[in-house]
Amino acid sequence: MENMPALAQTAALTGADIAELRAGFPYFAANDQRDEPAAYLDSAATSQRPARVLDAERRFLETANAAVHRGTSGAVGEATAAFEGARAAVARFVGAATPEQIVWAENATDALNLVALGIGEANAGLGVAGSERYRLEPGDEILVTEAEHHANLIPWQRLAAKTGAALKYIPAREDGTWTLDDAREALTDRTRIFAFGHVSNVTGLVAPVAELVELARAAGAITVLDACQSVPHIPVDFGALGVDFAAFSGHKMLGPNGIGVLYGRAEMLDALPPSRTGGSAITKVTMESALFMPAPQRFEPGTQPVSQVVGLCAAVAYLEDIGMERVAAREHELVERLVAGIAETPGLRLLGPADTTQRVALAAVSVDGVHAHDVGQYLDDQGVLVRVGHHCAQPLHRALGITSSTRASVHVTTTEDEVDRFLDALRGAQRYFGAEVSA
Ligand SMILES: Cc1ncc(COP(=O)(O)O)c(C=O)c1O
Repeated sequence: MENMPALAQTAALTGADIAELRAGFPYFAANDQRDEPAAYLDSAATSQRPARVLDAERRFLETANAAVHRGTSGAVGEATAAFEGARAAVARFVGAATPEQIVWAENATDALNLVALGIGEANAGLGVAGSERYRLEPGDEILVTEAEHHANLIPWQRLAAKTGAALKYIPAREDGTWTLDDAREALTDRTRIFAFGHVSNVTGLVAPVAELVELARAAGAITVLDACQSVPHIPVDFGALGVDFAAFSGHKMLGPNGIGVLYGRAEMLDALPPSRTGGSAITKVTMESALFMPAPQRFEPGTQPVSQVVGLCAAVAYLEDIGMERVAAREHELVERLVAGIAETPGLRLLGPADTTQRVALAAVSVDGVHAHDVGQYLDDQGVLVRVGHHCAQPLHRALGITSSTRASVHVTTTEDEVDRFLDALRGAQRYFGAEVSA
C-alpha cells in the first residue's frame, strides 16, 4: 500500500486509524492544525481527496500526460494503459464482469443523461443494432420516485416529453421514504424504464435494489440506478444487484471532479446509441454518415479526462485498501450518533428513516421555526460546514412540506467530534433564533 497507514485489514477502524487517515488528506491535515478547525460534514456534496489521489493525478500529468487512443507514440501507449487499467479497476470495484461495461462520463449527471439521451436517439430513428429494445410508445411509462435528485428526474422528464411516454412516480411517504411495496404498486405492464436512487441524498434511505430489479424485470422494465451516494460509502456489486445501468461520480468518493461513471450490462450498452458524437468513437466516417465503435468507446468521443481517470483509480485503490465493509461500518457508527443526537433534541425534524439500518452516510433536518439558510449561516459561523437548501431534490422537499433542509454528511475520515459539533451548533442555532423547544 502506497502512502497508506498500516491499518489492520479486518478489525474495525479505531480513532487512531481515523487520525492517521486524516493526516493523509492535505485538506484535513491543514485544517486540523488551525486554531479553529472546521468540521467538514459535506462529503455528500463533494469529498476531500487523500494525498495519494492528488499525487497520482499530479504524477501522471508531470510524467505521462498524453491523449489516449490516438497516435502511435510510447507516451500515448503508456497513458492509454493507465486509462484502460483504471477502467478495469473501477469495473472490479463495482462488480462489472468486464471493463467494457464501464463508460467514462463527466459526472453522475452526465452518466444518467447518456442513458436518457441515448434512449431518445433510439426513438428518433438514430439507433444502433439492437436499439429496438429501447422503443417507447405513447402510453408506455417511465417510473421514478418522488425522492430523486434532479439529475435522475429531469432527463426522464425530457425523454417522456420527446417520446410521448408518461412519467410516473412513486410518491414519498410522510418521512420522505418509499418501500418495495410502493414500487410493486407503481410498476405496471406498461413500465419500460424504472430509474431510482440507491441512497437518497436527502433522507439517506437505502433502496432494496436487488428486489426492485426483480420486480422491474418481471414487469419488463429496464432499471437505471443512481448510485451517486452508495458507491462511495458501502460495498456495491452492480453485477449481483442485476441493474441494467448505474451512475456515480468520482468527486464524492475521494476522487477528482470531472469524472463520472456509467455502468451498463453488456447487452444494454451494446444496444444504446451514442448521444454525443465526434472523434475517436467511430470506425468509419463518410460525408453522409458514421459507424460507431462498440461500447465503451462509442460513448467517449473527444479527448478524454485522463488525469481524472487516473485519480479515480487511485481513489478506488485507497478505498479498497481500507475495505468498503470497514468504511461502511465506520460511517454507520457516525450516522447512529447523528441520528441519536437529532432524536434527543426537541424541535428538530429528522428527514428519512429513524431506523439507522436503512440509512447511509447522512442526515438532514428541518429546524422548527428557523429557515435552513439561517441555520446554515449560524453553522458556518461556528465552522461547521454542511449543505443547506433543497439539495437538488425540490419535489421531495415539497412532499415533506418544506422548501429546504440542513444536511450533515460523513465519510470515512469524519470524527465523532465533528458530528458533535454539528449537533451542538444546531442547538445553538435554535437558541440564537429563539426557537429552542423544551423537552
Ligand atoms: C443522489 C445524487 N444523484 C446525482 C447527483 C449528481 O452528481 P454530480 O453533480 O456529481 O453529477 C448527486 C449529487 O449531489 C446526488 O447526490
